[in-house]
Amino acid sequence: MDESTDQKKSQDGLRRKYVPHLAKFFFRPDFDWSAEEAKNLYENSRSRDDVKLDSVRYVDCVKGMRDLPSDSIDLIVADPPFGIDFDGKSSMYNRDGTRVVEGYEEVLSSYDQFTSEWIGEIPRILKDTGSAYIFSGWNNLEDILRSARKAGLAMMNHIIWKYQFGVFTKRRFVTSHYHLILFTNDPKNYFFNKWENYPEDVWIINRDYRPGQSKNSTKLPLQVVQRCIDFSSQPGDLVLDPFMGNGTTAAAARGNWRHFIGFEINKQLREIIDQEVWSVKPGQFYIPYSDRLPSIEELGAMYPRAYKEYLRQRTKQDRAS
Ligand SMILES: C[S@@+](CC[C@H](N)C(=O)[O-])C[C@H]1O[C@@H](n2cnc3c(N)ncnc32)[C@H](O)[C@@H]1O
Repeated sequence: MDESTDQKKSQDGLRRKYVPHLAKFFFRPDFDWSAEEAKNLYENSRSRDDVKLDSVRYVDCVKGMRDLPSDSIDLIVADPPFGIDFDGKSSMYNRDGTRVVEGYEEVLSSYDQFTSEWIGEIPRILKDTGSAYIFSGWNNLEDILRSARKAGLAMMNHIIWKYQFGVFTKRRFVTSHYHLILFTNDPKNYFFNKWENYPEDVWIINRDYRPGQSKNSTKLPLQVVQRCIDFSSQPGDLVLDPFMGNGTTAAAARGNWRHFIGFEINKQLREIIDQEVWSVKPGQFYIPYSDRLPSIEELGAMYPRAYKEYLRQRTKQDRAS
């Protein structure tokens, strides 16, 4: 039930009667910026001499992270390699392997050791107001959770990203979800912009197909990454992706007036990353948060009873002011 706020006492001290969906009419994002404000925040955060903003380094991410100054990153979006024998070209994946770029780097050392090394770098570089989203398949989740606990990160959410297809199986269920864990350094102080009334921890977002285009085989949909950016950063913030792949995080950050830094060990991805990132203009995808919500009229058409109550309360408020 998403209407708990409907039952709270109203400003005049009276207990409001419960009306389903009424809270949606009164909801406003915690933070919002017009396109102009977002652009100004981005422009004003351009000159930093501690880090090279909007850049990609083709290095091992542990080295890259060690080179970053302390408290320099607002948001981390990390989609590490699976650590399973995956080349993204298997017929099980029902994809055209000829357009998949060679050199997908799997983890050769123990996955646990690799995971604890790169996750161990997060607490130092992440600001206390910052957040880290880490993607994981179910088979490696244990290593991610253990390493994060060892590093002292606080787990705020365990999100399930549900997509529309999985690997064909014969004797077990088809995996059609991913885990996405939200960690913070300081659970009391981290930034979170609740810009949706009822943001649930199950995200149903389809993987996109890009027929005819070369890509690293594990590309995330822009929409998934954009959600992390929207809820956990502000325009002008710095977003780090330690495992760039195709550069999805950088493209999402740039298109939403955020700066980025990325690491990628596979130099063969340079051309794809360049194309993905630099074809996006700063702010290209940005829409102020209130503009993404349904208007009062649209809500009214969906929930007529709540609309009537909303109008009644608004009239009462207007008279009182
Ligand atoms: C799952 S993919 C990331 C896909 C990306 N999120 C996207 O949407 O395109 C993981 C990437 O990490 C890279 N990688 C593997 N080990 C690495 C390391 N130690 N440092 C940096 N990158 C690494 C792989 O080459 C691969 O491109």
